[in-house]
Amino acid sequence: MKILVTGGLGFIGSHTVVELQSEGFDVVVIDDCSNSSEKVLDGITAITGKTPVFEKIDLKEKNEVSDFFKRHHDIEGVIHFAASKAVGESVQKPLLYYENNIGTLVYILQELSKNTRSNFIFSSSCTVYGQADEMPITENAPVKVAESPYGNTKQMGEEIIADTCNVTTGLNAIALRYFNPMGAHPSAEIGELPLGVPQNLVPFITQTGVGLREELSVYGDDYPTQDGTAVRDYIYVVDLAKAHVIALKRLIENKNKENYEVFNVGTGTGSSVLEVIQSFERVSKKKLNYKIVARRAGDIVSAYADTTKANNELGWKSEYTLDQAMKSAWDWEQKVRNRS
Ligand code: WQD
Repeated sequence: MKILVTGGLGFIGSHTVVELQSEGFDVVVIDDCSNSSEKVLDGITAITGKTPVFEKIDLKEKNEVSDFFKRHHDIEGVIHFAASKAVGESVQKPLLYYENNIGTLVYILQELSKNTRSNFIFSSSCTVYGQADEMPITENAPVKVAESPYGNTKQMGEEIIADTCNVTTGLNAIALRYFNPMGAHPSAEIGELPLGVPQNLVPFITQTGVGLREELSVYGDDYPTQDGTAVRDYIYVVDLAKAHVIALKRLIENKNKENYEVFNVGTGTGSSVLEVIQSFERVSKKKLNYKIVARRAGDIVSAYADTTKANNELGWKSEYTLDQAMKSAWDWEQKVRNRS
């Protein structure tokens, strides 16, 4: 069964390709390599013994998208990761984000709408909740006004899919709202490769641990949380990848209850920044060099998932602990630095 993974050379995309191939799916990857490298294909092959078909396509080119689907009319499902995802950059370059994240989604949905049945998994984000009023956050929590164009593209993306599913009987879609993805494949063949200075906490921690960064700045310790630092739900990328395969199978096997469904994908546990630092120190047996600085503009206090729906409906639950995920991130960082 042939599955298209857009953005399949990216962090979460590549881990999902590994899980798909491990389950016997034939995978076609589209990536424009603007924020990833073709070398990731070697890592996927090293892990699964299979190399996915790869096509370097700019999904902003409508004709290229339709040509692709003409050449691959036997695609049974699409997992759509391809998007720009840097919150800060999106504030500076909103039109780049709206073109890349929305335009490409529209072109893909236009192609899928031509089929009698299509199965579509969308990469969404807990960002749509903003600062939710209640913890843990359920899928019924209100979507709040986005704090960034990036977050807005996730909200708009979900609405575009819902509206299209409403009028396109053959289109079945699931949006997965990720919390904070982290870690790397246990083989250390693939992992997170942020370009430039990492914005996210975990890669900054591991780069500090390996000596690439002087010290970590902890953005605020005056939040109303257990230790004053902000709380997030750090989900191991392999757990997250498995959720995509389970969601795709739900659609392929026609087990979805509505033609558009939404699931939170997190561990259900909140961890503060200091707790993540302590996790790193436990697994690396190294002291992390950090200092407390002012809060980062736009940050929310706390976000962690109510995973009841994913557990009961999808039959998916995260299996790895924060320390296991952190160990995989640390192993990956050390391997990448030894390589460069
Ligand atoms: C986590 C915590 C920071 C860096 C973002 C996107 C979200 C999703 C996940 C895509 C916060 C603190 C961070 C640092 C720090 N991405 N921190 N020092 O902001 O929760 O979510 O990534 O879907 O859409 O918004 O993740 O890793 O940037 O921050 O103290 O150098 O770590 O303040 O409390 P965030 P993050």
